[in-house]
Amino acid sequence: MSPDPSALLQAGVARHAAGDLAGAEQFYRQVLKCRPLDANAHNLLGVLARQRGDAAGALRHTERALAQQPEEPVFLANRGAALAEAGRLPEAVIALRAALARRPEDAVTLRNLGQALCALGDPQAALAPLEAAARLQPGTAAPLLALAHARREASDAAGAAAAAEAALAAAAQPALAEQARFLLAALGRSGAPARAPAGYVRELFDQFAPRFEAELTGRLGYRTPALLAGLLTEAGIAPRRALRVLDLGCGTGLSGVALAPFARRLEGLDLSPRMLAEARRRPLYDALHEADLLDWLPTRPAGFDLVAAADVLNYLGDLAPALAAIAAALAPGGHAAFSVEAGEGASFALAEAMRYRHDPAHVAALAAAAGLALVEQRAGVLRMERGAPVEGALFLLSR
Ligand SMILES: C[S@@+](CC[C@H](N)C(=O)[O-])C[C@H]1O[C@@H](n2cnc3c(N)ncnc32)[C@H](O)[C@@H]1O
Repeated sequence: MSPDPSALLQAGVARHAAGDLAGAEQFYRQVLKCRPLDANAHNLLGVLARQRGDAAGALRHTERALAQQPEEPVFLANRGAALAEAGRLPEAVIALRAALARRPEDAVTLRNLGQALCALGDPQAALAPLEAAARLQPGTAAPLLALAHARREASDAAGAAAAAEAALAAAAQPALAEQARFLLAALGRSGAPARAPAGYVRELFDQFAPRFEAELTGRLGYRTPALLAGLLTEAGIAPRRALRVLDLGCGTGLSGVALAPFARRLEGLDLSPRMLAEARRRPLYDALHEADLLDWLPTRPAGFDLVAAADVLNYLGDLAPALAAIAAALAPGGHAAFSVEAGEGASFALAEAMRYRHDPAHVAALAAAAGLALVEQRAGVLRMERGAPVEGALFLLSR
């Protein structure tokens, strides 16, 4: 007797709900053996692919599901989520709105729409769907946190703090509570912690990864890698491919492109797997490591001639541990080159944009305390943010 595709689908859904992705996939694929065009099986394989971070697979399957049933709101919603995950935000907004037109009370789709609009730079438009999502899921941290971020970006600090407080009260998972606390600190409601939570930074850049380069090199006019390379050559460090170079917080590899001419061996390190996946596409790095820089640097004492960090140390407040770890990872005579966002007065401050600013004089003092001598320090515009220049300080230090 041939298997019943509906029973196979049900069995897959049960495995899926229990978190057994591999088991669920087997059942969905068996359904497709009997019914290759089965829209539900394709839709669920799309969800599964998205859960695994396979954006291309998610797009392929949701497209096949919609080819069979173009009006099905669940498929439209999953298509929208897959497009957002792939960084195709304008298309995501269209699909999510089409899903909501057919099923207006879908809290997850409302949240996805709000977050996509926010990422597109329109937090005002994100407020209504995010408020609706929070209303539909009362006492749930994730929509409240998304709402808090949108309000912060829409310059409603009081509203953002209220939503973040509610998210903190509701948070069952420690990671969400940590994010809510960090947001409250950025809004000035509590003291700034010594660093951004690693989980927050990872999630931020995992989401940003597919759009990072287009946005940074386009609208944001990102210049830090070029400024650091200029600092090196002007200090007499020639781009002769002679050095063992570590690109700390390498991201997708924009900084690696600028550092490669100096490198005999180029290694990259980042805590965002999706940024690293983008970096891996470049034939640039000899090795890439997924880790927090504070954990990883001590594993390579005196391992590098140059350690560079472009637009990375602004996710740390207290730079003393990072500078000590960088110094220890440098061979004698080696160099550190990095940027910080410039602040004044306090040694560090957490800005509302959720990145730290550092007073350059304090950074220089911390570097000296870590055994790093100042070779060069200069001011520069790192990039643009909401149409305004982000003022930074660039440092070249030697061990
Ligand atoms: C703005 S991006 C810059 C990427 C790259 N350096 C460039 O110039 O394009 C900052 C990167 O630093 C990484 N990062 C931030 N804090 C980190 C930490 N503590 N350890 C490792 N990576 C970190 C982030 O994941 C992100 O990829």
